[in-house]
Amino acid sequence: MLELLKPQPADKIIALMGLYAADPRDGKIDLGVGVYKDANGKTPIMRAVKAAEARLHEAQTSKSYVGLLGDLSFVDAMRNLVLGTSVAADRVTGAQTPGGTGAIRQLAELVKLANPQATVWLSDPTWPNHPAILKHLDIPTQSYRYFDAATCEVNFDAMMEDLEQAQAGDVVLLHGCCHNPTGANLDLLQWRAVTDLVLRKGLIPFVDLAYQGFGDGLEDDVQGMRHLLGAVPQAMVAASCSKNFGLYRDRVGVALVIAPDEKTRDLAKGALSSLNRLNYSFPPDHGAALVSILMNDADLRADWQAELEEMRTGMLDLRTGLAEELRRATNSDRFDFVANHRGMFSRLGLPPEAVEKLRDEHAIYMVGDSRINIAGLPKDGLTRLAQAVAAVLS
Ligand code: LMR
Repeated sequence: MLELLKPQPADKIIALMGLYAADPRDGKIDLGVGVYKDANGKTPIMRAVKAAEARLHEAQTSKSYVGLLGDLSFVDAMRNLVLGTSVAADRVTGAQTPGGTGAIRQLAELVKLANPQATVWLSDPTWPNHPAILKHLDIPTQSYRYFDAATCEVNFDAMMEDLEQAQAGDVVLLHGCCHNPTGANLDLLQWRAVTDLVLRKGLIPFVDLAYQGFGDGLEDDVQGMRHLLGAVPQAMVAASCSKNFGLYRDRVGVALVIAPDEKTRDLAKGALSSLNRLNYSFPPDHGAALVSILMNDADLRADWQAELEEMRTGMLDLRTGLAEELRRATNSDRFDFVANHRGMFSRLGLPPEAVEKLRDEHAIYMVGDSRINIAGLPKDGLTRLAQAVAAVLS
């Protein structure tokens, strides 16, 4: 049997992690996988998470199962964080999942269960695991143009033109904030226009929210998304706690479903519960328990928010600094967009040969489409990266 397996296509982000790890050169710079690093190159355990962990260690008396939907106090805390008051709580159901990827997978399965005919519309470009998961599940996909390669900003007219082709009942996958891989985001007016289009055409929004708090702040980042979700009868959100709680390896996420009425909500709840059972039974508890402790304690929550804000403003400083260095090194305003982008990522718009040269000649690793993780830049990395980019382009 095993000999019948075909080699599986490599995920380009994970493959890059391997290449970087195997590179023996001193001073190599990793701008690949989306993991936050501080000025010393460390990915910290956030203070409030550490404190919640100590409390959990003291207070936990059993490792018995919690429930198929996970810890409901966690699910509710996440509903609050993600949706605020934009959608009435009794219209929402949710399941704890292993990471944001788990939430995407469960919601994609829910789409298939509900409507196998639905096409899922993906931004071009998008996180490579989106099309990979959907293809694996045999869910039809289409893409909508999103990024203007010339300006490195959103090509909104093209996006709207393409989404006009979607059929009623189709699903539109949107990045809630901090678009991955481009770093170019919709503004509030554009979210409003998307909302109108979604309502007019009867589409179902599916929002991937992996970076809340990494762009303009916890609330500002989700303003546009909340406008959309507050207006539509049905929607889904996959939210990740990997980045904003720094819980990467603990795998913490939530799949939220917004339903028009109680009956539909309960159908969705049953489907989420069943999908958890079918895929892994009970979702992993540890990280979600930490989020629940932290979010339900005013002091820990305030400290978490303060630390998240330090991380966010640090990334913004890196953005302004890098845009300045690139302006100096290339003697042009070609890369000014880096300061306007938000989140961990920016797609620099470099040709693949330049990306390769940066890796081979300068030990600077970025994803093949020239996506950089801004938080991967070490203190002295701004000038080095800017000069290397100028060198490979000359
Ligand atoms: C990324 O895009 O680098 C992150 O979302 C990590 C991952 O799993 O790909």
